[in-house]
Amino acid sequence: MTSDISYLPEVPHVRHGSNIGQPLTRRDGELKVTGRATYAADNHPAGILYAALAVSSIARGRVASLDVAAAKAHPRVVEVMTPANRPPLADDPDAKTNPFMFRMELLQNDQVRYPGQSIAVVIAETLEAATEAAVLLAPRYEALPARVGLDAGESFTPTSVGVGNPATAHHGDVEAGLAAAARRIESTYETPAQYHNAMEPHCIVAAWDGDRLSIDMPSQGLIMGRARLAGLLGLPPGNIHIRSPFLGGGFGSKGFPIGPQVLGVLAAKLVGRPVKLVLTREQMYGPAGHRSATRQTLRIGIAADGALTAIDHHAKVASSTFDDFFEPAADSSHTLYASPAIATSHEAVRIDTGTPLFMRAPGEATGSIALESAIDEAAIACGMDPLAFRLKNYAEVEPISGKPFSSKALRECYAQGAERFGWSKRPLAARQMRDENGFLVGWGMGTATFPALMFAAEARAVLRSDGTGLMETGAHDMGQGAWTAFAQIAADSLGLDIGEVEFRAGSSDLPDAGIAGGSGHTATAGMAIHNAGADVIARLAELAMSNERSPLFGAGNAGVIARGGRLFRRDDEGRSESYADILSRAGLAQIEGSGNAAADPVAQETYAMHAHGAVFAEVKVDPDLGQIRVSRMVGAFAAGRVINPRLVRSQYYGGMIWGVSFALHEEAITDRRSGRIMNANLGEYHVPVNADIPSVEALLVEEHDPYVNALGIKGVGEVGITGSAGAVANAVWHATGIRPRRFPIRIEDLLTSPAA
Ligand code: MOS
Repeated sequence: MTSDISYLPEVPHVRHGSNIGQPLTRRDGELKVTGRATYAADNHPAGILYAALAVSSIARGRVASLDVAAAKAHPRVVEVMTPANRPPLADDPDAKTNPFMFRMELLQNDQVRYPGQSIAVVIAETLEAATEAAVLLAPRYEALPARVGLDAGESFTPTSVGVGNPATAHHGDVEAGLAAAARRIESTYETPAQYHNAMEPHCIVAAWDGDRLSIDMPSQGLIMGRARLAGLLGLPPGNIHIRSPFLGGGFGSKGFPIGPQVLGVLAAKLVGRPVKLVLTREQMYGPAGHRSATRQTLRIGIAADGALTAIDHHAKVASSTFDDFFEPAADSSHTLYASPAIATSHEAVRIDTGTPLFMRAPGEATGSIALESAIDEAAIACGMDPLAFRLKNYAEVEPISGKPFSSKALRECYAQGAERFGWSKRPLAARQMRDENGFLVGWGMGTATFPALMFAAEARAVLRSDGTGLMETGAHDMGQGAWTAFAQIAADSLGLDIGEVEFRAGSSDLPDAGIAGGSGHTATAGMAIHNAGADVIARLAELAMSNERSPLFGAGNAGVIARGGRLFRRDDEGRSESYADILSRAGLAQIEGSGNAAADPVAQETYAMHAHGAVFAEVKVDPDLGQIRVSRMVGAFAAGRVINPRLVRSQYYGGMIWGVSFALHEEAITDRRSGRIMNANLGEYHVPVNADIPSVEALLVEEHDPYVNALGIKGVGEVGITGSAGAVANAVWHATGIRPRRFPIRIEDLLTSPAA
């Protein structure tokens, strides 16, 4: 029953027990496809009221007036919450005591600092009444001119980028490397602001019971989110219960509670009834984070033999006027290519926007598209095949840190991906291939990399006298399949079949599973689960080995193996006993254990840990109309142990499709006069649909990493984006001879004559 699917015969995996490595379908799949999975906004506690958010239509200034009387007079409206009557907070929403704390607008004053900022909340018996009354507020503003775009004001060097990374880093002498180079490339790439656009909008259902608070809210970080709410509300964290069993995507934007969610809690407090607040799609373009636009300049020096002599990667990014998040775009040049000199630097400008945030592969997604385009350009300048050029300049140790890689199967990714794609047949020059319709055909590639991160997590394990097990940790399933992958790890850790293991997750009253972010959730919570299982098995073994009536009596140092609901003597598998027998003889209904996980600081200090991959793309370009279609993509990825090849492959598909989206579709367009986003909807903010993605293959390249963690797990959520956008852009060059410099690539960019 562990192999209910026989699909994907070439699955490379390392068997841990009988569950890890199996391509199981999602445990929650049936619930989801039958509509029985309860998402946060599906909850309707008795007496519920509906809140509608009123948001600013200006980018900067103050709210001069709101017609609260008109809104309150609307039938079925219960209350209007404004700065005048918003319940008090225990903490300043503009306080920032750690980099994971983002400032929010909680009606603390009449100031407007970006378009789409919350300015009032209308609470009514129906959503329709709340929505209508929010319009009746008819805000009047004192507006100041909007500051828009990367050239809006003074630029400065941020104190740090991403989370605490230095804004500048280097090794060697870049200027000397450039001066000594036989060839030099200098080019600038622009990427647009992008919004997370998870299918499920941010929302909250909040119900107070005295000083206890019950919340349904999609969360990628339950315990951290609970702590943030507890601080703002002045409650002990234990008084707050957050449920988040299913998320309709997050992509980084649900890592922290956002302002409107806190306003939902305050609205429920104000009216003394449960309140539901769901953002409209348009309202997600403001207080929920986004990816900053970037302008990146790469200078690359290449020796006569094609070896890099220098890489200089400079990125300009934007942040809000009131908070700090700086997209670490240039940091993507730290790890991939060896060069005697590398320098990365960032500068930033403050504009009238909601604060940018982590968005799928923050830094790597934006940075790698520029780096991979520039590397492609460098290869072509040397007359070298882009794959041969990458292999020549492949880093054996991480260039800037000087650390060896804990494992690196990138050569295998290049080889397997190239073979599957048929890369060896690629003509060196551009505009050499046409399809049967006369469309220009081009092949491009990109290298993928993303750090293998681990955070801290805990789990609790139970074995019961009926032979079943229970594993608990407050893990988050954004759609990636966490319910399933963690149950697989749990089952192996308990020596049971997955069908015998109950797995509980998605609730803040469970042990802290850390955050589902940075592609680190499987490694982090998975290791806590693994350790909790080992702990409960050790306790069970102790019970058996110390009892004369057990066949395991005295196994002692030889130890036992847990498998199929039994403990076996390691030195004599003929002697074994079932969990049920051990527990019933001891008169126990169950036995409990616990485990935790964190990155190993010694290993982290010693090794550079990354997932890797190589992505190959084919595009077809209409020579007259400039329309671009991706016709084929092959990615080969190595990310340590594969817990579930079906889910992992699906993550890679998602990353590759996001890469296509980055290269060809996504862009938030800001009106320069108003500062408002003009396409704040899924009709005009383009993402690929099925017709845009004809054939995508993801190969799982086997990799054993003995250092990253005991299970050898690296992350798979974000690495797939990083090579893919560059691969598409490079394929466009190969088809047309035109080097894309701004993203998404536009038809008009391809209607000029190709560069000589
Ligand atoms: Mo991600 S941007 O770490 O959810």
